[in-house]
Amino acid sequence: MLSSNIGLDHIAVYVPNQYLSSVDLAHARQIDPNKFTIGIGIKEISVPSPAEDVVVMAANAGYQVLQEAGVLPSEIGLLIVGTESAVDGAKPVAIQVHELLGIQSACRVYDTIHACIGATYGVLSALDWLAADSSRSYALVIASDIARYGKASPGEPTQGAGAVALLISRHPRLMTLQEISNYSKNVYDFWKPKEEIYPMVNGVYSAQCYLEAVTQCFTGLIINQKSTFLYHTPYPKLVQQAHTQVLEVVDSTIDKKPHYDKYVSCSSLYPSRVGNIYTGSLWLSLVSFLENIYASESNSLIELQEGCYLFSYGSGCSSVLMRGEFSANCREMVQKMKLSLRLEQRVQISVEEYEMLMYSPDDVKKNYLNTGYFKFEGIHNKERKYSVCKETVFFEVENG
Ligand code: HMG
Repeated sequence: MLSSNIGLDHIAVYVPNQYLSSVDLAHARQIDPNKFTIGIGIKEISVPSPAEDVVVMAANAGYQVLQEAGVLPSEIGLLIVGTESAVDGAKPVAIQVHELLGIQSACRVYDTIHACIGATYGVLSALDWLAADSSRSYALVIASDIARYGKASPGEPTQGAGAVALLISRHPRLMTLQEISNYSKNVYDFWKPKEEIYPMVNGVYSAQCYLEAVTQCFTGLIINQKSTFLYHTPYPKLVQQAHTQVLEVVDSTIDKKPHYDKYVSCSSLYPSRVGNIYTGSLWLSLVSFLENIYASESNSLIELQEGCYLFSYGSGCSSVLMRGEFSANCREMVQKMKLSLRLEQRVQISVEEYEMLMYSPDDVKKNYLNTGYFKFEGIHNKERKYSVCKETVFFEVENG
């Protein structure tokens, strides 16, 4: 069992500056919009610009988390990027991020890959790394992905893009984290052969595999029913179905809909406006819960004292259930989070622009303005080049 006083010190999310409305997409595909907005539960999907690859998104989220937490790059001793959208078969995303953030060279740097659970396994490794040596202070784990499915395929309305940076420390200011159960099984629910641009998806089967995994992870446990339940969220409707099954396992007499509304629903608000961001998806639901629980009139400090369960799933498949206990002063860290503002500031694009960005060859794409700190400049001599577009000064108050 992992030490219980290690966990998440702070968390920050980067999403691209453009989004597509699911209603517009449904009209273009001649589908009833209610299928996307209600049947699947996604209202908007994030669309990355050509300047926003997984490295750029990861660096932006990483910069934000360090800046907001007041932690210097020289304090990071472990950097892990969890991704299934890597841009190279050998060179990790993490080493590019390491350079862009100016992290010290005395640092372990690597990527973790297992579909959507890759970053969560990075978090568990970071907990182990801190538990192994009390002189270690901070690990940085970043989930970064661009979810891509074929044009007009069933998965298309679920695709999103974004990165979530998780700063792991001892005596964390946000929450402690502990692994409590696992379930893994070799299945072909969602996979990506090396020669394919888009994943192979057995959609309905993938949902069944996910539901089997979540059921197995909760089976036999004594559960605090007043806790918040956070799930990997490929689309919010699946989370609703998962929670129904979990309650059936935990206590079949619980009235399921009110329980979902109270203990789960606000964690789906941001996923429904961003889409599936693969490795970052569970962690986006945590930010959605925290930002919105404090924004609501009936500020539920009592629920926060009851802690949370976090279920992470990666196709293929592997899953883990964690327990989180919120710190007494976690509100201070939640107030630093700015995702609601970022979502409001995004630009809505048309289906034509979306198709150009997602499905055109690279040379057709225009050089879209990037609003983050880092930019992908292109490939020269087969090397990917990145630049800093705004001054990245640590701990200075930003204007605006
Ligand atoms: P689909 O073809 O849209 O499926 O694909 P559907 O026809 O069953 O419709 C979906 C729901 O919309 C159904 O509700 C319909 O009834 C409803 P449900 O029966 O589930 O309650 N619906 C409507 N509702 C209101 N008004 C209407 C209407 N019409 C229909 N007019 C599918 C859905 C999930 C298969 C597709 O989105 C897909 O292939 N997605 C990609 C795979 C995926 O997300 N799988 C999830 C589990 S695997 C996972 O989470 C791992 C992953 O993140 C990857 C990784 O680990 O790396 C994906």
